[in-house]
Amino acid sequence: MRPPLTSLRMTLRFVLPLLLVLGAFAYSSVPLMDQLNLRWFMRDLDLRSATLAATLEDPLQDYVPQKAKRKIMQLFDRAILDERLFALGFCDPRGELIYKTATWPKSLGCARDAAPGRAGGRLVDLPQGAVHVTVSTLQREGEALGKLILVHDMSFIERRSADTRKYVMSVFLALGVAISLITVVIARISWRGWLDGVRGVLRGGIAQRAGFTASPEMLPLIGDLRALLNEYQRERLSDDDAKVSAPDKLRALLHNELAGDEVLVVSNREPYIHVKTPEGVEVRRPASGLVTAVEAVMRACSGTWIAHGAGNADRDVVDAHGRVPVPPGHSSYTLRRVWLSKEEEQGYYYGFANEGMWPLCHIAHVRPIFRSSDWEQYVAVNRRFADAVVAEARTEDPVVLVQDYHFALLPRMVRERLPRATIITFWHIPWPNSESFGICPWRAEILEGMLGSTILGFHTPLHRRNFMDTVDRYLETRIEEEASTISYGGKLTQVQSYPISIAWPEAEAQTDSVPACRAAIRRELGLAPDHLLGIGVDRLDYTKGILERFQAVERMLERYPEMVGRFTFVQIAAPSRSSLDEYQNFEARVRSLVQRINVRFGSGGYLPIVLKAEHHEHEAVNRYYRAAEVCMVTSLHDGMNLVAKEFIAARDDERGALVLSQFTGAAMELHAALIINPYHIEQGAEALYRGLMMPAAEQAERMRSMRMLVRDFNVYRWAGRMLHDAARLRQRERVMSKIAEHGAAPGLRRVV
Ligand code: F6P
Repeated sequence: MRPPLTSLRMTLRFVLPLLLVLGAFAYSSVPLMDQLNLRWFMRDLDLRSATLAATLEDPLQDYVPQKAKRKIMQLFDRAILDERLFALGFCDPRGELIYKTATWPKSLGCARDAAPGRAGGRLVDLPQGAVHVTVSTLQREGEALGKLILVHDMSFIERRSADTRKYVMSVFLALGVAISLITVVIARISWRGWLDGVRGVLRGGIAQRAGFTASPEMLPLIGDLRALLNEYQRERLSDDDAKVSAPDKLRALLHNELAGDEVLVVSNREPYIHVKTPEGVEVRRPASGLVTAVEAVMRACSGTWIAHGAGNADRDVVDAHGRVPVPPGHSSYTLRRVWLSKEEEQGYYYGFANEGMWPLCHIAHVRPIFRSSDWEQYVAVNRRFADAVVAEARTEDPVVLVQDYHFALLPRMVRERLPRATIITFWHIPWPNSESFGICPWRAEILEGMLGSTILGFHTPLHRRNFMDTVDRYLETRIEEEASTISYGGKLTQVQSYPISIAWPEAEAQTDSVPACRAAIRRELGLAPDHLLGIGVDRLDYTKGILERFQAVERMLERYPEMVGRFTFVQIAAPSRSSLDEYQNFEARVRSLVQRINVRFGSGGYLPIVLKAEHHEHEAVNRYYRAAEVCMVTSLHDGMNLVAKEFIAARDDERGALVLSQFTGAAMELHAALIINPYHIEQGAEALYRGLMMPAAEQAERMRSMRMLVRDFNVYRWAGRMLHDAARLRQRERVMSKIAEHGAAPGLRRVV
């Protein structure tokens, strides 16, 4: 219901302009009315004068020859008792005024003014005002007696005109008010009806199923309105999410909104890998954006993380159920390891996931390979992980966070066995367009599997869009575009973009100062203290644009020879999926390119590119971030790329420049980076040079804006948004099932 003040304001907004227009119209029509009035009154006075002259003619024909002045004056005085007749006069044939009433205007002579004019009277302006003068010639037996002059007062016309003006204005005013009120009443009635209609349609599926239909004139607006509402809701939600920017807030959200204290994460890569070294068992953190992000969430929420136990010492540290508390020394959640045979790992991980799905989803011009044997392992391993989820679940409705393309089938498998679970699946890599995805021989199975999720998340709106299009093309579903939901087999999945992020480091987490890191790293590399440094941190993967990055370094040295001997690029490259041909070939190409460039520009102890193709812990990488002038992220295609965000988080000195590929999800957010097309080598070279030469003030300005964004939109917010949406969807499903129950019960009215 609209508050009364708003209604009044709206009414006035309409009524006032209307009244003004009508008033102006009324005012401008007054001179016209005056002219019309004058003409009517003149005609009236002509008639009156003619009648009066005819009445006076008879007695005057007797009195004038008798020169009966007294009788004539009595006659005249009686006549001017009429309030409009102002004066009477009589002129003899010589033009002399021989009789006149006392009111006769001095300035009105006989010769001039008594001359007969046109048929009617005429207006004469006298000092006391305008008068109407008529002249009638009197005769007796054919002989002229003289002229009778009647003078009528015209001032009443002015009075009448003023009255008319008032009258016209008030008529228009009343008319204006009446029209406005009628219009407002009609508009409000139609508005209410229209609004009820729109509300009905916007209430969505429920109202439509209950038989509500929108009137045809509303139809074109409904889509726009729904989109606007969704947008508004998203914005409102993101305001709420803003509060979820810390671990404790995320924990509270999980417990309060999802009434769950049980979180189960499923991913292929485990957060901690136990490996045997000559010094004993070592715990390693893998090079994985996924692990970086989800680990922070798990520390906040606790629960169980189910992952492939891939370390050669993993079995040595777990209990009989494959469980080990982590992080080592500060346990806050449980890592449950799933053991895979060589064949399983080969078919599911190397084969289907990394030779099939990985190149399929990334546009990096490597052909995907799909083998039936790999697919069989993929199905089997997904089932094994689904079994592990069911085994680990202590309640019927756990919150299950499924990670990435390794587990496209798992959401449906879990849904079948735990129908009340909240399943949030996040796809960490891009999603291609529907045509490209169609290459996958098991595309329908993949899509069906994913649609077992409650929430399905992608990094960018484009990837979300691509997924919706793919489903639309290959599955029979009901898609609600505006709400971004897909209904399949009676189950609703919300598909949304949730850009992933990192946990913003506490100030005290940066142990070594930036100057200390700069000095130490240069010392370790045998470089001068003022030597310029670039840094790249990636897995050795063909999607990361490492070759293009080195070519850009080479081109920069060519174009700016003063940089030779002054600049070094350090590439930290974690070995990855090395048993695959494609990755072995790629590593060989990387090594040979580095060698060629180093031979070309290196001299003495100077190497333009230092390749560190080995595992580095986060703390070691962080020192390089803090020591470098420029960080280069040149992925040919990437879901988000958290290296870009980690570099920004590391630079609490607000220095350093980020060169960032336009084909990363991060480029959608980090507009203050130097955005490049990595395929364009010259552009990469120029950006690198520009980053190295960037004035300190510009670095600070760009860095400040990016740091603010990454700090606010951190990983807790990413997880918070998904949990929020899951809670909302659960609520909606609960309401829908209640409605369905009531609708089915006999004697109950249908609730809409
Ligand atoms: O972020 C994409 C991703 O494939 C993750 O799924 C994975 O953990 C990471 O990159 C590293 O890849 P892998 O686990 O195959 O070494």
